[in-house]
Amino acid sequence: MKVLVTGAGGYIGTVLVDELLRRGYYVIALDRWFFGKTLQDDVNLKTIDADERLYDPDVLRGVDAVIDLASLSNDPAGELDPVKTWSINYLGRLRTAVLAKQKGVKRYLLSSSCSVYGFRDDIATEESRPNPLTTYAKANLYAERDILPLADKNFTPMAFRIATVYGYAGTRRMRFDLVINAMTRDIVTKGKVMIMRDGSQWRPFVHVKDVAVAFAEALEKPEDLIRGRVFNLGTDDQNYQIKELADRITSALGVNVEYEWYGSPDTRSYRVSFEKLKKEFGFEPKYRVEDGAKEIADAIRSGKLDSNDPKTITVSWYKSLIAQGVMV
Ligand SMILES: NC(=O)c1ccc[n+]([C@@H]2O[C@H](COP(=O)([O-])OP(=O)(O)OC[C@H]3O[C@@H](n4cnc5c(N)ncnc54)[C@H](O)[C@@H]3O)[C@@H](O)[C@H]2O)c1
Repeated sequence: MKVLVTGAGGYIGTVLVDELLRRGYYVIALDRWFFGKTLQDDVNLKTIDADERLYDPDVLRGVDAVIDLASLSNDPAGELDPVKTWSINYLGRLRTAVLAKQKGVKRYLLSSSCSVYGFRDDIATEESRPNPLTTYAKANLYAERDILPLADKNFTPMAFRIATVYGYAGTRRMRFDLVINAMTRDIVTKGKVMIMRDGSQWRPFVHVKDVAVAFAEALEKPEDLIRGRVFNLGTDDQNYQIKELADRITSALGVNVEYEWYGSPDTRSYRVSFEKLKKEFGFEPKYRVEDGAKEIADAIRSGKLDSNDPKTITVSWYKSLIAQGVMV
C-alpha cells in the first residue's frame, strides 16, 4: 500500500514515516523541507521536494492514502503572514484532498487541531460549537468544513483534531515551542521552569508517538467507521493545568527546580473530551507526560537533541528563512 505523507519532514511527520515504514507501507514523503531533509534512505521511501500548493498532481497516481500534515504549524507562525497560512493550511490541503479524490486515492487523513475549540468553560467534544481564535485555527476548521463533505463510497476523508503534542520518539525535527518540550528543556539546561501566569489554565496533550500510531491505525480501520468524521486525538486524563504540568515534569525527572512566572494572568483555558476516539475509533494513547519528559531529558543529556538548535522554535525559524529570502 502506497501512502503520501505531506509535511513529512516535520515533528510529527518524521515519527509517522518511521511508523509507516515499520508497518510495511511504501511512503512518498513530500515537503518543502524547511527544517532539513532528515529522513533516512529506505527502499520503501521516496522523498519529493515540492510545495503543498503547487506539486504535480501525478504525484498522487497509484497512491492509496494521503496523510496531509503540511502546514505552518502553530498560532504565532500562522500570524506571520495570514495570507500564506490560509494558502497552505486551508487552500493547499483542500487542493490535495480534491486532487486525491480525482486521482482515485481511497483515504485522506487531515491533521486538524484542538485549537478549533478556542478557550471555553465547558469540556469540548466533536459536537461542540467551534470557537477558532487565530488564523491557524480558522484554517484548520475551514479545511475540515470543505474536505470532509468530499466523502463518498469511493473516497474516505477523515480528520484528527490533535491535542498539543509532546515527546521525542526519535523525531528528526524537534519542537521546543511546545510547552511540555520547552519545560523539560529548561529544567535540564537552565535548572528552572517558566510558567505562564497564573498556571491554572487547562490544555489537552498527546505524545508524538501516539499521534503517529493513530494515523497509521486510521489507514487500517474500516472505511465506514471513519468516512467524513472528526475525532479528537488525545486522552481525557491528559487535560492538564499548566502548573500541574510543571509539577509532573519535575517529579518525573526527580528534580527540585525554581519556578519562574511570566506574562500577565491568563486564565483562558480549554479542556477536551476524547471519549469518541476511545469508544468509536477504538484507540487510546499509551504514553504520558512523564514518558515524554524523561525521553527528552535523556536525548538532551546524551547529545541526541541539540537544545539550542534554532530550527526547534517554529516561528523564529520561519522568520529567519524569510529574512534569508526563502519564499515560505
Ligand atoms: N505539534 C502539535 O502540537 C500539533 C497539534 C495539533 C495539530 N498539529 C498539526 O499537525 C501537522 C504537523 O505538525 P508538526 O508539529 O509536525 O509541524 P512541523 O512544523 O514540524 O511540520 C510541518 C511540515 O510542513 C512543511 N511545510 C510547510 N509548508 C509547506 C508547504 N507549503 N509545502 C510543503 N510542505 C510544507 C514544513 O517544512 C514541515 O516539515 C500540522 O498540520 C499541524 O498543524 C500539530
